[in-house]
Amino acid sequence: MRDEVARGLAAPHKTLSPKFFYDALGSKLFEAITYTDAYYPTRCEMQILTAHGADIARAIGPAVALVELGSGQSTKVPLLLSHLPDVRAYVPVDIDAATLTEAARRLRRQFPGLTVVPVAADLSGPWALPDLPEHARTVVFYPGSTLGNLDPAHATAFLDDLGRRLAPGDGLVLGIDLEKDPAVLEAAYDDPAGVTAAFNRNMLVHLNRVVGTDFAPRRFAHEAFWNADAHRIEMHLRSLGAQVVHLGPHAFAFDDGETLHTERSYKYTRERVDALTAHAGFARQAWWTDPQGWFGVGAYVRTSEPTP
Ligand code: AVJ
Repeated sequence: MRDEVARGLAAPHKTLSPKFFYDALGSKLFEAITYTDAYYPTRCEMQILTAHGADIARAIGPAVALVELGSGQSTKVPLLLSHLPDVRAYVPVDIDAATLTEAARRLRRQFPGLTVVPVAADLSGPWALPDLPEHARTVVFYPGSTLGNLDPAHATAFLDDLGRRLAPGDGLVLGIDLEKDPAVLEAAYDDPAGVTAAFNRNMLVHLNRVVGTDFAPRRFAHEAFWNADAHRIEMHLRSLGAQVVHLGPHAFAFDDGETLHTERSYKYTRERVDALTAHAGFARQAWWTDPQGWFGVGAYVRTSEPTP
């Protein structure tokens, strides 16, 4: 983690991975973002899952194991689980162990008889699923537009890798944020109460504690904007004045106004999601959006080998 942070701060355009947002506080701050009026994705996706949970279950077919990637507080999965009566094992995968433990406790209480097998893993590196019973049909639930944090090349590689891990006939339910009016997008990443700004700055607090940097979080301003050419929202922390940040033997100088790029949140069209999933060997069974067409949920079955 130290090396990765040092490499990012040494880059010509200083950059850090959005995975560093998620310590226990960062996970809570993200949850708080989802309650703001400005941040529509969670509300839209919940709306889709609530309206079409039964249709999604029908499109995807019966599952014995349900794996959720980037599960966080596991607030969406009950909307699927209640329509998938054959699921024996729920495997939430998340980068923050504290969040996982809390979510697992809640799920076990809500679904007695369900085996919950939490996996703490950084999905940007090598990760493994626990041994599931053989021939247990698996459905992967990848909601929240978490895939959107990966640049297109990594998103392709990630889904191809997922296709290779799954057996023919296994399922995928993918939730992804869609392109829309830039004003709506930019507002979602800069809520007026400043929850997103606190979430962005918390990365610095997290890194100070875990890798020993000496960021002064209040000397960085939150910024979010739509990059139309790249189809993504970018979040940055802009240095208020010139300053130097240390990490062990390294010193990283920030010019006044220089930014640290903390997140890329890609927005898709159905066509681009189709291309990505088809490349990985997934055939779309069905697709839903909220009434405004702001967020999409697709149901897929792994029908072929990922494109080499
Ligand atoms: C959890 C990655 C989907 O990109 O919208 C929320 C994180 N960042 N506000 C997103 C986030 C700023 C979120 N994802």
